[in-house]
Amino acid sequence: MTQDPSSTPHFAIAIDGPAASGKSTLARLLASRLGLIMVNSGAMYRAITWKILRENIDSHDAPAVIELLGRIEIRCGHDGILSTITIDGIDPGDELRGPDVNANVSAISAIPQVRNKLIDLQRGYLEHSSIVMEGRDIGSVVFPDTPFKIYVDADEEVRAARRGDEGLVDSIAKRDAADSKRATAPLIVAEGATVLDNSHLGIEEGVQAAIEILTRQGLKL
Ligand code: DC
Repeated sequence: MTQDPSSTPHFAIAIDGPAASGKSTLARLLASRLGLIMVNSGAMYRAITWKILRENIDSHDAPAVIELLGRIEIRCGHDGILSTITIDGIDPGDELRGPDVNANVSAISAIPQVRNKLIDLQRGYLEHSSIVMEGRDIGSVVFPDTPFKIYVDADEEVRAARRGDEGLVDSIAKRDAADSKRATAPLIVAEGATVLDNSHLGIEEGVQAAIEILTRQGLKL
């Protein structure tokens, strides 16, 4: 069932931006400082992609992907301050960040029926608590009415180096192009969002800059 975000006493902080821009680190630290739950919406798209690959379904075969969506059980929750996801009772764990998932997740996340299903689950978090949610369309589509929106960015070389440092194989330029050009909910700077370029900021400096932005946007600490 679709959750109407305006019907809850909770609020959402939306953190959007391209791959490896530092969204997850920032969202996690903000959640920890502010006593909120951090929701990684990318993990949800990755979990569907993981399941599709396990079932040997072609990520470009939208009818087959939609058919699978109708017969799997997706459970979203949290463990401490971090969001969790299981598909048919299984937590994919580190496999979510594997090269096969990286290579196929943009195709899966471009399917509108996948997005609709996950957006309902994303909005559902607000029933229980206030959240920091990171992704691509959080400020533009999932919570367009929240006043708290940050678009995190960093130079492409900086982002590629960060991913390489994590030892992960990920063609971030290709993924960014696909995520920004897709027809449904492309990556954009949402209306009302403030851009935070952290190319030359340390992690703590980034958190402080974000807290200043959120305070200007009206967040009471
Ligand atoms: O944040 P991430 O790199 O783990 O996200 C993986 C992919 O999921 C990303 O390439 C696009 C998709 N995604 C999306 O379309 N919308 C979101 N809100 C979050 C992620």
